[in-house]
Amino acid sequence: MNNCRPHKTILVTGGAGYIGSHCCVALDQAGYRTVIVDNLTNSRADVFNRLARLCDTPPIFVQGDCRDTGLVQKAIADHGVDAVMHLAGLKAVAESLQQPVAYYDNNLYSLLSVVQAMQQEGVDDLIFSSTATVYSSSAPHPFSEDSPIAPEQPYARSKWMMEQILSDLHHASPQWRIGILRYFNPVGSHSSHLIGEYPIGIPNNLMPRICFAVTQKNAPLTLFGNDYPTDDGTCVRDYIHIMDLADGHVAALQHLRTQSGMMAFNLGTGHGVSVLTLVKTFAAVNQCQVPYIVGERRAGDMSAFWADVRRAQEVLKWSAQRDLTQMCRDAWQWQQQLQSED
Ligand SMILES: NC(=O)c1ccc[n+]([C@@H]2O[C@H](COP(=O)([O-])OP(=O)(O)OC[C@H]3O[C@@H](n4cnc5c(N)ncnc54)[C@H](O)[C@@H]3O)[C@@H](O)[C@H]2O)c1
Repeated sequence: MNNCRPHKTILVTGGAGYIGSHCCVALDQAGYRTVIVDNLTNSRADVFNRLARLCDTPPIFVQGDCRDTGLVQKAIADHGVDAVMHLAGLKAVAESLQQPVAYYDNNLYSLLSVVQAMQQEGVDDLIFSSTATVYSSSAPHPFSEDSPIAPEQPYARSKWMMEQILSDLHHASPQWRIGILRYFNPVGSHSSHLIGEYPIGIPNNLMPRICFAVTQKNAPLTLFGNDYPTDDGTCVRDYIHIMDLADGHVAALQHLRTQSGMMAFNLGTGHGVSVLTLVKTFAAVNQCQVPYIVGERRAGDMSAFWADVRRAQEVLKWSAQRDLTQMCRDAWQWQQQLQSED
C-alpha cells in the first residue's frame, strides 16, 4: 500500500499572525500553495501586501473566524486543501488569567471547528501549534516531549486540552496524521525584514517589548522578577529564531506525508538564555541602550525552561540554525523597517 500523501495546498489558520505569516513564506519556498483563514483580531491586513512581495504564489486570504465551521469547510473545499496547520489562537498568558473563558472559547472551539471542517472534507493531516508551557515547571531540564505535563495557567491548559482532544481523535480515527509542535520562545523576523512580530497595542512578548523600550523614551522594559533561582535571577527561556521555527513546520508537514500516527515535537534551540542576557545581547548587537526596571514576578511565569530537541533532530531532520545575535539583529531591523514606514 502506498502510504505517501503528497500535499500541495495547505490551510494555515492564523496565517496573518507572527508565526503563521513566516510559515506561509517557508511553505511557499518549499513549493506549497497556502490558504489563510484569519479573523485579524491580532494581526493587520497589510501583512498580505508583505507576503505578496515575499512569496512566488501569495497566500489566498479568507477573512473569518475559525469557530465558523462552514467558513473553514468552504475554504478547504474551494481551494483543494490537503493538509492544515492550525495556528489561530489567543496566546497571552497574563491575559488568559484575566479572561479564561474567552481563551477557552476561542482556542477550544476553534480547534473543534477546524477538525470538524476537515472531517467533512476528508482531510486528516494536521499540524497543531502547542506550547512548551504545557510542561510541569518542576520537571527536570531540559524538557523532553515525555516530560511531565502540568500546565499552570488557562492559556497553557487550553493547549493541553487541545492536545488531548487530538489524541482522542487519533485514537478513534487512526488514519489521522497529527504533528503537535511545542514551541519554545520564537523571536526575530524574516531576513527581508518585511514581516515580523507586529503586536496590536502595547506589546506583550519580550522582544517587541525590548524594541518598544528602545524607541519609546519613557517606557522602560520591566523585567518581571530578578530573584528566580537562575544565574542572574531573571527567567531563563529557549529563544528560537522565527525562520527556524517556520522551517520546523515544513519539516513536520513533510514528515506527515509518509508517516502515520500522532507525535509531539519540541521546537527550540536546546539552549537556555536569561532575560537579562537577551537584553544585554540586544543592546550590544544593535549598539543601543535598552532602558529597564526590575518589577515583581509575573503570575504564571516559570523560572527556567529550555528544550530537549533530539526528537525533532532525529525524526524531522530539523534543527535550529540561527543564533541569538541574528535573532536580536533581525528583531531590531524589522522594528526599524516599521518605523521607516510610519
Ligand atoms: N508567539 C509565541 O511565543 C508562541 C509560543 C507558543 C505557542 N504559540 C502559539 O502559536 C500560534 C500562533 O502564535 P503567534 O505568535 O503567531 O500569534 P499571533 O497572535 O501573531 O497570531 C495568531 C493569529 O490567529 C488569529 N486568530 C486568533 N483567533 C482566531 C480565530 N478564532 N479565528 C481566526 N483567526 C484567529 C489572529 O488574528 C492572529 O492573526 C498560537 O496558537 C499561539 O498560541 C505562540
